Amino acid sequence: MQQEDLFKKLTSHCKEYGFIFQSSEIYDGLSAVYDYGQYGAELKNNIRKYWWDSMLLLNDNIVGLDSAIFMHPEVWKASGHVDAFNDPLIDNKDSKKRYRADILIEEFIEKLSEKKTKEVTRAAKRFGEEFDEAMFIQTNKRVLDLDERINSVRRRFVEASEKSDLAEIRQIIIDCDIADPVSGSRNWTDVRQFNLMFDTKLGSISEDASKIYLRPETAQGIFVNFMNVQKSGRMKLPFGIAQVGKAFRNEIVARQFIFRMREFEQMEMQFFVRPGEEKQWYEYWKEKRMKWHSNLGFSQDKYRFHDHDKLAHYANAATDIEFAFPFGFKEVEGIHSRTDYDLSQHQKFCGKKLQYFDNELSKSYVPYVVETSIGLDRMFLTVVAASWEEEKIKKENGAEDERVVLRLPPALAPVKLAIFPLVKKDGLAEISQKIRDDLRFDFICQYEEKDSIGRRYRRQDAIGTPFCITIDHQTKEDEKVTIRYRDTMLQERLPVGKLREIIGEKVNMKSLLKSL
Ligand code: GAP
Repeated sequence: MQQEDLFKKLTSHCKEYGFIFQSSEIYDGLSAVYDYGQYGAELKNNIRKYWWDSMLLLNDNIVGLDSAIFMHPEVWKASGHVDAFNDPLIDNKDSKKRYRADILIEEFIEKLSEKKTKEVTRAAKRFGEEFDEAMFIQTNKRVLDLDERINSVRRRFVEASEKSDLAEIRQIIIDCDIADPVSGSRNWTDVRQFNLMFDTKLGSISEDASKIYLRPETAQGIFVNFMNVQKSGRMKLPFGIAQVGKAFRNEIVARQFIFRMREFEQMEMQFFVRPGEEKQWYEYWKEKRMKWHSNLGFSQDKYRFHDHDKLAHYANAATDIEFAFPFGFKEVEGIHSRTDYDLSQHQKFCGKKLQYFDNELSKSYVPYVVETSIGLDRMFLTVVAASWEEEKIKKENGAEDERVVLRLPPALAPVKLAIFPLVKKDGLAEISQKIRDDLRFDFICQYEEKDSIGRRYRRQDAIGTPFCITIDHQTKEDEKVTIRYRDTMLQERLPVGKLREIIGEKVNMKSLLKSL
């Protein structure tokens, strides 16, 4: 299936089955803002819990925080967001479409890299077993030319970005002959900077009202509370503060569904360390965070690191964990070694000491920070994309059939168990409801009595319910039910009294956390 088709199917699946709706849809929607429906809210809660518990329960030296969305406006001056939280934008004069200039160039580089990969794959096929890939890459003229182009465009782009040279960024687009992806036109405007923060007014009387911002990241709420948490919790370095919350960015190009939103949720953890030890902690968190992703059991080749070529002026190392979305490998999480930049900036702007007294070294200093920052919505999209499958199956009578199944890790699934009476009559509905009432305190169960069992299975497959049980006439005699497993579709009979233990163990977050 074409990846574009897959993405369309994913987005319509999310809507059809109550995972995600366009915000204010009855008023024709609000661009790049989304609402989570009945199953989406559950799945999102479970992903959030997986992250939160992995930080808080598994690390003695990480504590949580829930800071406000509104913050003093000086915070954003100190952090650099007022002056520098900009994206370079460019408009196409013919199509009137607006793009991020940096993304146009990055996509161009990506295309050249794909061409290079194709050359190598084609040669590998042609030469068979005798193919020496390393030698081919070093000597093939076409591959060498592509490498040269990739490196030269990248070099120019990094240099122009570092100097904020907008004219040069435009010139790269012209020199690379980059066309508007929609219209094919090359008629570009100048490149301009666009600040991504939303602002509003605090106070009711307009003269007194002061301009404040909706936070564009949750991290600053952690930095400004560093001393509060350290002192009140008597925290010793190294320690971390974790937070989950909403962030807002007025994205220029808000597209690709929940990949790039204007209102989204971040899960961030700032890990405070001794200066000089940050690189070692950066490597530690790189590995830990990749393990957190791969622990979900999806194919390993869906993840990769992308170390930054261009480092922000305050960072001394940075990488992205990228996921293979249907529209290519893209960032889902960033791990950044941010030095002492943020705390030092706040110290300068607020005029108060933000320092830690290190008993072992007998001195005070501003700690260094390693940050892990992941978008909850983007993570949600990776989970749905990796779980969704259109599968050909055989019916009992041998006829071909198809089902759409969400192979969600059971601990993340919105509904854990579906309970079906085979028929409504003969007391089967009452037995089923009694089982539901008994298990509802342990995990989310759904009772369904309408339609054929086959249809009921399909609906549960589509929302990712890992287990369905059917109560039939025999249940009245042997107190056993038929359990059907979502992934294999195999069925077996189990005593009612064992359901809590067997299902509970598989759907519990504990099992996911234990394998970390
Ligand atoms: N404190 C660091 C920070 O905010 P970032 O790379 O700008 O770093 C971190 O954002 C993560 O937040 C990204 O990896 C992504 O998952 C998520 N994110 C950023 N902008 C987003 C947007 N517009 N929509 C959805 N998620 C976004």
